[in-house]
Amino acid sequence: MNLLTRGTSAFCLLLAGVAATAQPAPATTAGTAAAATGTYEPRRGQAGKDVIWIATPDAAVDRMLQMAELRATDRLVDLGSGDGKIPITAARNFGARARGLEYNPDLVQLSRRRAQQAGVADQVEFQQADIFVTDFSQADVVTMYLLPELNLRLRPILFGMAPGTRVVSHSFTMGDWQPDETSRTDTATLYLWRIPANVSGSWQLGAVPGLAKAPQRLQLRQHRQMVEGEAQYGALATSAQRPVLSGDRLSFGLRDADGAPLAVQARVQGDTMRGTLTTAAGQAHAFEARRSEAPAPIAGVVASQPELDAAARALN
Ligand SMILES: C[S@@+](CC[C@H](N)C(=O)[O-])C[C@H]1O[C@@H](n2cnc3c(N)ncnc32)[C@H](O)[C@@H]1O
Repeated sequence: MNLLTRGTSAFCLLLAGVAATAQPAPATTAGTAAAATGTYEPRRGQAGKDVIWIATPDAAVDRMLQMAELRATDRLVDLGSGDGKIPITAARNFGARARGLEYNPDLVQLSRRRAQQAGVADQVEFQQADIFVTDFSQADVVTMYLLPELNLRLRPILFGMAPGTRVVSHSFTMGDWQPDETSRTDTATLYLWRIPANVSGSWQLGAVPGLAKAPQRLQLRQHRQMVEGEAQYGALATSAQRPVLSGDRLSFGLRDADGAPLAVQARVQGDTMRGTLTTAAGQAHAFEARRSEAPAPIAGVVASQPELDAAARALN
């Protein structure tokens, strides 16, 4: 039994079951009137444009925001924000600025009312919008409770966001893009990914003060946030050990030209890598490297046919 199956709650089964029949469903006349008078209450399982509405339970909302390490300086966006509970919680409990994108105008009005009641109307914005044609690239944290196939459609958009952006999904994975972290509550599994920087390519190191045997070049390959590669010392090449890429932060181990271990910790910004090479004795030496050519796009971003097939099967 995999994590998705274990985490699939009655909520998710309902989501999945109704998704196949969900139609574009702008608000009904009756619904709009109720929204205007403040009496509108959504119905759990009601149709939505691409997926029905079911609210994420409170404990899962809290956990999603903890996993994102949401800070007051962050901008959060919830894709398909329903009754607004995730943006409102982000503003009320974490002091963040938050935005909800929701197709159903009644839910948008309801969210605005609830934000006022919670005293966070100046920190949150609810917009009647289709998540697939709306720009949310400025967000630091993206939350979603959608469907496997919708997550796959969003994946290239998410990979276009700034490295380090945190993406948290309630219940549904992103194909075979491995999450950086998962949590399981009593109702669901929650998944976190950090958008990786593109670190692939050939990196030329400058002189490293105090470290005569520093590598001259790093050659890195990347599939999503997974990295492999080697360091070169003249004719000698040695593999990068246990590389970890988290946003724009890259770390791995190396054996130097004399066979001694070195720990590499670096930040990648565009075509520049800056960091430290730390010897076994604990001496840290600053280094800088430049990428010699523009990198290829990150591999594994666009959904493959097997991933799309698996996403379709998840709903049956
Ligand atoms: C399962 S609910 C999740 C609500 C909220 N994010 C939460 O976790 O409590 C999904 C929401 O997405 C909305 N929705 C569906 N398709 C959408 C689209 N293309 N653009 C914007 N919202 C959409 C639905 O109306 C519904 O409110």
